[in-house]
Amino acid sequence: NLKIFEMLVIAYLLGSIPSGVWIGKLFYHKDIRQYGSGNMGTTNTFRVLGKKAGMVVLLLDMLKGTLAACQPYLFHVSINVLIIGCAAVAGHVFPLFARFRGGKAVATSAGILLAYNPVFFLIAWVIFLTTLYLTSMVSIASMVGMTLITILSLFFHDSILTIIALVLTIFVFYRHKGNLKRIHEGDENLVPFGLYYRR
Ligand code: G3P
Repeated sequence: NLKIFEMLVIAYLLGSIPSGVWIGKLFYHKDIRQYGSGNMGTTNTFRVLGKKAGMVVLLLDMLKGTLAACQPYLFHVSINVLIIGCAAVAGHVFPLFARFRGGKAVATSAGILLAYNPVFFLIAWVIFLTTLYLTSMVSIASMVGMTLITILSLFFHDSILTIIALVLTIFVFYRHKGNLKRIHEGDENLVPFGLYYRR
């Protein structure tokens, strides 16, 4: 089906937009991949460029997933939005516009979840922020969030949702290899708030 193929390509290209890298270079003359964790995602943007840039990158990285996943609604094609959305996550992680070395799949995955079900998206945020408050580590909040979302997906009786959530969760853990090592060694980067930070 040509339409599905086209939607997947558009989703991949949208996901490939490395917003953290471009905003850093354009407005701050800094390549965020050379600072902090070296990642191009929201967390490292906050860390290296500050709150304003971090918020913008969070919104852009999420919205590119949402927009990509909304294509089946826009073009009236009946296919699960998450399947198309996955191509955007692939773009975010292996971006055409940044030599295929991208982020850790978290914000864009959240974005496709928003397209699937806004209430479930809000639940994901509550889980994420609660874990972040307890641990002061975005990496742990990301991994716990993805895991609990996969478990909660079982209540939706949508096997595509559960399979995609599971695959993305495994993928997010894999992309956090470096973080897991730092967590294990006790020197993962902390955000300056929450209980663990104040311990
Ligand atoms: O979404 C990425 C986040 O979980 C960790 O980012 O920069 O601390 O490796 P970072």
